[in-house]
Amino acid sequence: MTHEAPLLTVKEVSTRFRTKRGRLRAVEQVCLQIEAGETLGLVGESGSGKSVLGQTIMGLVSHGGNTTVTGQVLFEGHDMQTLTRKEQQQLWGNDIAMVFQDPMSALNPFKKIGTHITESLRAHLGLDKARARERAIELLRKVRIPEPTRRIDQYPHELSGGMRQRVVIAMALACDPKLIIADEPPPPSM
Ligand SMILES: Nc1ncnc2c1ncn2[C@@H]1O[C@H](COP(=O)(O)OP(=O)(O)OP(=O)(O)O)[C@@H](O)[C@H]1O
Ligand SMILES: [Mg+2]
Repeated sequence: MTHEAPLLTVKEVSTRFRTKRGRLRAVEQVCLQIEAGETLGLVGESGSGKSVLGQTIMGLVSHGGNTTVTGQVLFEGHDMQTLTRKEQQQLWGNDIAMVFQDPMSALNPFKKIGTHITESLRAHLGLDKARARERAIELLRKVRIPEPTRRIDQYPHELSGGMRQRVVIAMALACDPKLIIADEPPPPSM
C-alpha cells in the first residue's frame, strides 16, 4: 500500500546563532508533522524560538556565517534543502506562505496595499492587472478590511496596526497555499 507523504515533516531541526556572547540555541531538535488540512498550534514564551522555527521551515534563515541549521524539513516528502533558489521561490507563496509577526517589516512603506497583493497574484497565477486587482479587493474583503476599494490604494502607514496585520494575512492567502505558517494568528473572527 502506498502512503502519501505528510504535507510537512520537520525532523530534528536545530537553529543556532553565533553571537558576541556565545552560541545561542534558538531552536533545538524540533520534530513535528502536519497533514494536509490539519492545524497545528505552537505555544511558547517570548524568545523561545517560535519565529526562528517558522523562518527555518520557510528556508529564510541563511545557512553559513553565524547561523547553523541542522536536521531536515520535508515538504510533501521533498527535502527543502535540496531545492535551488528558483525552486524555493516557486514554493513560496504558491505552496507555502508565511504570515510574518511584524507587519511593518513585511510591508514596503513605498508600495500601495494593492501592489503588495497583486504582485504575487500576477507572478504566481499569471493574472492580468484588472483581474489581479479584483482578486486583491476580494482578499481584503475576506480578511474583513472595511472599504477595500479605498484601502487598496493606500500606503501601509495609512492603515491601523490591525488592518496592516490583516493585509499580511491577505498576502499569505493570495495564491491559496497548501501550508500557511502564521507567526501571528488570525483574529478569531476570521
Ligand atoms: N538573526 C538572529 N541572530 C541572533 N539571534 C537571533 C536571531 N533571530 C532570533 N534570535 C534569537 O533567537 C531567540 C528566539 O527568537 P524568536 O524570535 O524565535 O522568539 P519567539 O518565540 O518568536 O518570541 P515572541 O513570542 O516574542 O515572538 C531569541 O533569543 C532571539 O533573540
Ligand atoms: Mg516570534
